Amino acid sequence: MILLKNIKELIQIREKPVKFVAGKEMAILPTLKNAFLLIQDNRIKDFGPMEKIPATKSDSLIEIECTGRMVFPTYCDSHTHIVFPGSREKEFVDKIRGLSYEEIARRGGGILNSAELLHNTSAEELYASAQKRIAEIISLGTGAVEIKSGYGLNVEDELKMLRVIKWLKESCPVTIKSNFLGAHSVPMKFRGKQHEYVKHVIQEMIPTVAEEGLADFIDVFCDKGFFTPEETSEILEAGAKYGLRGKIHANELGYSGGVQVGVKHNAVSVDHLEYTGEEEINCLKGSGTMPTVLPGAAFFLNLPLSPVRKMIDSGLPVALASDYNPGSSPSGNMNFINSLGCIKYKMLPEETINATTINSAYAMGVETQLGSITRGKLANVFITTEIENYNYIPYYFGSNLIDTVILNGEVQNSLIK
Ligand code: NIG
Ligand code: FE
Repeated sequence: MILLKNIKELIQIREKPVKFVAGKEMAILPTLKNAFLLIQDNRIKDFGPMEKIPATKSDSLIEIECTGRMVFPTYCDSHTHIVFPGSREKEFVDKIRGLSYEEIARRGGGILNSAELLHNTSAEELYASAQKRIAEIISLGTGAVEIKSGYGLNVEDELKMLRVIKWLKESCPVTIKSNFLGAHSVPMKFRGKQHEYVKHVIQEMIPTVAEEGLADFIDVFCDKGFFTPEETSEILEAGAKYGLRGKIHANELGYSGGVQVGVKHNAVSVDHLEYTGEEEINCLKGSGTMPTVLPGAAFFLNLPLSPVRKMIDSGLPVALASDYNPGSSPSGNMNFINSLGCIKYKMLPEETINATTINSAYAMGVETQLGSITRGKLANVFITTEIENYNYIPYYFGSNLIDTVILNGEVQNSLIK
């Protein structure tokens, strides 16, 4: 049992569970000042004001004094490609010299560059590098992460990636969801025969991946220069036969029709959304599909910004995720994502915190277990350093104001003396 005492402010408390928050509600962040939080086994047992702290006596009780510190539910990072080989800093320099992401991709760089490297990297090496990244994001406050395949682009290498994700699921303290992204790019072998590759994904990859139970979701890069809405539709339909819901890449490079096709197939989320107009916003209204914005990728690639303000003001929910990957967002720092949300997208701190906790939990299908301080949910929380108020998190961009992370009721790392 763990008892957190004298918490300066307990953030994102939801007495009654919510699926997500939308529109004006996004600016409301329920908190409790001078609070306690009681963790039993791996769950949140209770919380409340210090006057009502339970008289808990047990030899195994760990008490953590939180004076001056705030406690948050850990971040849910609902969109990453955290299993990847090597890095792509050469392309980073090419971009500085003026090449665009699409030009690099056309020249066989980008995703195909990572795919070739992945082919020559063992599962053990992939696992070891991903595990290090996961340890890093835990120290930055992430307690759940979605991880995509998509650097395999053939049956064998996609399976290699997905098995590594399964291995991480079984051995890491974070909650992990896996997403099959066979349709991330057309491999060289299929250049000029894109539809044959789509058929390959549908006929060979999806059944194999599904039979081994390796995926929780299915993804397609539905965008200009990548896969069309028709191809996306075929792939999502094929995935649905195996119970896989979509979480798709859409509208990063153009008005691709990705949002419409995602909503039509009841995708859990449509992600990126730099190119989002009235039509996309209207289509998302009332759907169960979470619009997810990836500020790290827009920042790193200097993309036009997704109209987040307009989306929220139109009543939509928005989730934020890191998109941690070697090509467009080599960072999984969700604190920085909060900063970018505020600075670049004019979101309020309350909105970014909702977008990186409860809304991103929904965007990866874990909203009943994570994303808020609610009795019965998994005890994944972080304790901050001594801070004045929660605005410090987005304000001190680049700093890590997180001292201690507790996952499944176990203290992971503590800097508190
Ligand atoms: O989400 N947009 C497509 N896929 C990734 C980038 C992957 C890569 O460049 O390696 C993204 O940005
Ligand atoms: Fe991505």
